[in-house]
Amino acid sequence: MATILATWEEPGKVAIHAARQTVLNGGSVLDSLEAGLTAAEDDPNLVAIGRGSLPNSDGEIELDASVMLGSGLEAGAVCALRGVLPAIRVARWVMERTEHVMLTGDQARRFAIEQGLRPQNLMTAESIRRYEEWLRSPESVAEYAHSVHDTVTMLGEDGGRMVAASSTSGWAYKKPGRVGDSPIVGAGIYADDEHGAAGATGWGEQLWRACASFRTVQAMGRGLSPQEACEETVAYMQRRLPGSRELPCVVLALGKDGSFGAATTKGEFHLWVCRDGGGPQVHAYRPKGG
Ligand code: GLY
Repeated sequence: MATILATWEEPGKVAIHAARQTVLNGGSVLDSLEAGLTAAEDDPNLVAIGRGSLPNSDGEIELDASVMLGSGLEAGAVCALRGVLPAIRVARWVMERTEHVMLTGDQARRFAIEQGLRPQNLMTAESIRRYEEWLRSPESVAEYAHSVHDTVTMLGEDGGRMVAASSTSGWAYKKPGRVGDSPIVGAGIYADDEHGAAGATGWGEQLWRACASFRTVQAMGRGLSPQEACEETVAYMQRRLPGSRELPCVVLALGKDGSFGAATTKGEFHLWVCRDGGGPQVHAYRPKGG
């Protein structure tokens, strides 16, 4: 039976419950991860993903999403996608309906609409209020903007078949066109049925520089457990990218046998786990020695 992981306490709870329901209804792990991320994207109360998330510095929400299958290393991704939901479904369509791995910006939006999604305004009264507050006083909320970083990344396995997926609106008030790790195969997600799956969440620039997800899957390939592999990646980042200690940089991993782990450079990280359709449980991780 399936094991499914989802990142962060608040958005992960929405995602893991929707994914679990799909498992219970007989859906595949891929379907479950898509359902989980779609539910989180559609929830206007989650400020780091989908509808109601915080926009870029121009006041526009730009979404990034990706999905990867460990069976054949198939992958699909979108970045800087504006005005359509769910981004994770568009990423899946890129994987399943095109010859490509990634579509970007206005052309990703055109593809999404051609495939059947309708254009819509993703801003809510609350996201407009927060953006206007930031415009009035950008410095005073800079710390907050950088801390709103709860990208939802999900990993799943069923009988050793691995899937990884991620969805985010990226940094609040980011430079328009900025893309982080989440839609980048090897940085934000990686899945390989030979070794396992890994994902990332947190400070995308640092996680991308470290190729955090690929690095973690390769570590499992050398025989490390998911927990050991995540700790090795975080230790590497702390050594080679000392700036990564300033904000949370999180990696999570799932083994082919359903074992899992996570590690963070800073702060407390919560990971939701659902095994065999049972009730989801949340696990907490802190930096080693922190
Ligand atoms: N990890 C999400 C981002 O930095 O965009």
